[in-house]
Amino acid sequence: MQITILPGDGVGYEVTAQAVHVLEEVSAVHGIDVQTRTGLIGGAAIRETGKPIPEETLESCVNSDAVLLGAVGSPEFDHLPPSERPEIGLLRLRQALGGFANLRPSRAVLSLLDSSPLRREIFEGTDLIIVRELLGGLYYGEPRGVDEDSTAAFNTMRYSVAEIERVARVAFETALRRDKKVTSVDKANVLETSRLWRQTVTKVAAEYPSVELEHLFVDACAMHLVTDPRRFDVVLTENLFGDILSDEAAVLTGSLGMLASATIGGAVDLYEPVHGSAPDIAGRNIANPLGAIASVAMLLRYTAKNDLAASAIEAAIDRVLEDGYRTADLARAGNAKVVSTEEMGKLVAQYAIENAHVAHAFHAV
Ligand code: IPM
Ligand code: MN
Repeated sequence: MQITILPGDGVGYEVTAQAVHVLEEVSAVHGIDVQTRTGLIGGAAIRETGKPIPEETLESCVNSDAVLLGAVGSPEFDHLPPSERPEIGLLRLRQALGGFANLRPSRAVLSLLDSSPLRREIFEGTDLIIVRELLGGLYYGEPRGVDEDSTAAFNTMRYSVAEIERVARVAFETALRRDKKVTSVDKANVLETSRLWRQTVTKVAAEYPSVELEHLFVDACAMHLVTDPRRFDVVLTENLFGDILSDEAAVLTGSLGMLASATIGGAVDLYEPVHGSAPDIAGRNIANPLGAIASVAMLLRYTAKNDLAASAIEAAIDRVLEDGYRTADLARAGNAKVVSTEEMGKLVAQYAIENAHVAHAFHAV
């Protein structure tokens, strides 16, 4: 398997270093052949090459089986318009790889319940996955721009039936493997795109009679996420709503640093933690690498199709937390063995390898 690693900006470097460490160790134990190449993207790429995503990076990515990305974004470029900022590198990459379904799971981890901003009795048992449409909507809609006299600016939200159908199918297929419920989120009381979204999702739902479908307006969804998150199984939504709701869903777990994502459906799969580049804590070896490491687990599940290796990592993450290890973002007074980014990566790798040996021993029997 050829993987392109794009650390990007800020804490991206630290968290991907640990994610790659876990990937290499676990792959070796499971006999998965992994070759890696590293490339530039985002602010780091602008600084070195003047471009947010150099040709060389794109070339490497499209010729890989998967791409593992850290984070993109840097305050140094805050004064630039969207078309020249680090983020455009990521948006171009997503387009080039073609993955249109971004899966962002969020689940209550027992040992982290006290770190959640929600009360235990509300959050306990939550297990949801957001399926975010990733190649349409306001992020890519044309026309976009600023009026000549700079007194107004505009973006376009546009969705075709085909774009909605293909991501809806991913949501229903995902629901079939889970609790068989899809919540489709839109703003159909105001937006034409949302009306089309709702009609199209309803049509696709007819192909999946065993899956329950509900529709929610995005404002109501934002509210239910904090009052009754257990009601959700698969949350299907368009690009910008998904961006916003996934930060909300992520932080409920205790830290934005926990969440992984996989982008599938295109020529090359893309894996990245949900969190950003966190420039305020970058370079201090305190960032939480678990979102990036959990993204590696998703890579092993979806691209390498190796559930055993993926589960070994996921179980290792749970166990490390159960044993009380926390990076600074999750540490609360008194309770934790506070570890650095690097120590956290080493612990997860070590536990995952132990899990792998146990799993293999079972297989041998
Ligand atoms: C995310 C990020 C990106 C997005 C940014 C960095 C372009 O916030 O992956 O959620 O908005 O999609
Ligand atoms: Mn985001």
